Amino acid sequence: MTQDEAKALVGKRAAQLVEDGMAVGLGTGSTSTMFIKALGERVKNEGLKIRCVASSDASTELGLSLGMDVVTLNVLPELDLYIDGADEVAPGFALIKGGGAALLREKIVASSAKKFVCVVDSTKLVEKLGKFPLPIEVIKMALPLVEKRLSELDLNPKLRMLKDGSGPLLTDEQNYILDCHCGVIENPEETAAEIRNIVGVVEHGLFLGLASMVLVAGEDGVTEITE
Ligand code: 5RP
Repeated sequence: MTQDEAKALVGKRAAQLVEDGMAVGLGTGSTSTMFIKALGERVKNEGLKIRCVASSDASTELGLSLGMDVVTLNVLPELDLYIDGADEVAPGFALIKGGGAALLREKIVASSAKKFVCVVDSTKLVEKLGKFPLPIEVIKMALPLVEKRLSELDLNPKLRMLKDGSGPLLTDEQNYILDCHCGVIENPEETAAEIRNIVGVVEHGLFLGLASMVLVAGEDGVTEITE
């Protein structure tokens, strides 16, 4: 099975978790895109009545283009279920997210949901977090200060650039992303607290204690981890 096939499989399985009448959070990234498309099919074919809040402009546009009712948290402040991917999943449901630069809105939407189900292919499972660079969203003005503080913590920050190299990437909230090439994160809680302490950091990509279930797609199909 290719990674894209695994993402499609787990996205489809996640769409089955959605029930009529639910308020649903839509994640961001290629796996979430598969989920949103599968959910859109259910809305169209089964007449599923749901309302959604998305964690990025891209997922909002995708949902709307599929005829889904996508509103803001102002309209729908409490969600039943949030489905989203991750860049790394370690034991205890410790996640790194933000590879798609949507970590801030993703954390807000995840925190507004009663249940966050993370959907990944098996390549995302790790014993310890940190091989994937840890994204940190930063207020533009504070970039030099935050870069300096993160370097002092040996987190090795690099400003994320646009793919064509024409300038720094801006998030949906018009902030910068610093990707920290820090290697293994031995104590994610401690690292999260140190990062949070830096003035100018808006949010970091360590998602700790937020997910309550992980669906993993691999050669044997989809496995449900509830721990
Ligand atoms: C976006 C994210 C994504 O969920 C994460 O990057 C995984 O993406 P993909 O499903 O494309 O592998 O956190 O900010």
